[in-house]
Amino acid sequence: MRSYSLAAPAKINLYLEIIGDRPDGYHELAMVLQSIDLADKIELRSLSTDTIRLRCAHPQVPKDRTNLAYQAAALMAAEFPDSFAQFGGIEIIIDKRIPIAAGLAGGSTDAAAVLVGLDLLWQLGLTQSQLEELASQLGSDVPFCIAGGTAIATGRGEMLSPLPSVDNLFVVLGKYRHLDISTAWAYQTYRASFGNSYVTSKQDLKSRAAAVHSSSMVQAIIHEDPHQIGQRLHNDLERVVIPAYPQILQLKETFQQAGCLGAMMSGSGSTVFALCDSQKQAQLVQQQARDLAPSKELDLFLARFTSSGIQVLSSTRD
Ligand code: C5P
Repeated sequence: MRSYSLAAPAKINLYLEIIGDRPDGYHELAMVLQSIDLADKIELRSLSTDTIRLRCAHPQVPKDRTNLAYQAAALMAAEFPDSFAQFGGIEIIIDKRIPIAAGLAGGSTDAAAVLVGLDLLWQLGLTQSQLEELASQLGSDVPFCIAGGTAIATGRGEMLSPLPSVDNLFVVLGKYRHLDISTAWAYQTYRASFGNSYVTSKQDLKSRAAAVHSSSMVQAIIHEDPHQIGQRLHNDLERVVIPAYPQILQLKETFQQAGCLGAMMSGSGSTVFALCDSQKQAQLVQQQARDLAPSKELDLFLARFTSSGIQVLSSTRD
């Protein structure tokens, strides 16, 4: 029986614009997403019983079907019943390194790894677009996590256009350990506060989403201009999250004082990232942030931009 070990990288949002409502209750978005090398490790193997079992030592990670990685395995079992019958059940072991409820797509990337891993384990030979289609049934960020890198994401977040990869950029991530923000809460609060300014006509929705392709953030990425990328960081969700959680603004200001290229909340938070153009600068920013905000509650991580999504680390036959 084969088993696979996979790396599942986190993502940050370099740009997040909320354009309007969708008939499915979600929001129409225009985003620029970036993978970073802070990654969970996922082990996948077949079981002799026809069950799905999930193990993770992290106390806050659910081990049941509320976990998106579990749902990914259940989706694959439902889509490919013959393979599920032939190969038996599935054991998923998650080594959690990405902070949870942090706006870093930690749950989404684990689910993406389960899709990629089961495709290999069951020798299905699915294409990237087939995997992304399955991923879109699980959550808005899951399709991006399959191939990762740098990409524009529109629609719910599932319509992807790859961008040239940005190398040699680093981030310091800051997250207060007990500050977990619900994504659904952030979007609902945004709708309640700013829904009256949403674009409503279908044509306007389309052209606003298309505009991100020629935006100054995308130009900065194409021209590999770290300073412009730092200047153009944007996240509409800060408009509702910062008033409710002032620590987010304090952390941004701490990073800016520490001398980064720009600082922004990722996704719906609560992670704030500081963009840096060298590892040395990132180490300095991390140290300065530690000194300026000496809270025991603040976890700081250093990570590098990566052009990879889900990657096989090793496979064994036992
Ligand atoms: O798709 P996902 O499960 O990650 O989304 C979590 C929540 O975020 C959704 O329930 C929804 O409230 C909100 N959301 C949204 N529009 C999007 C993506 C997410 O309103 N495009």
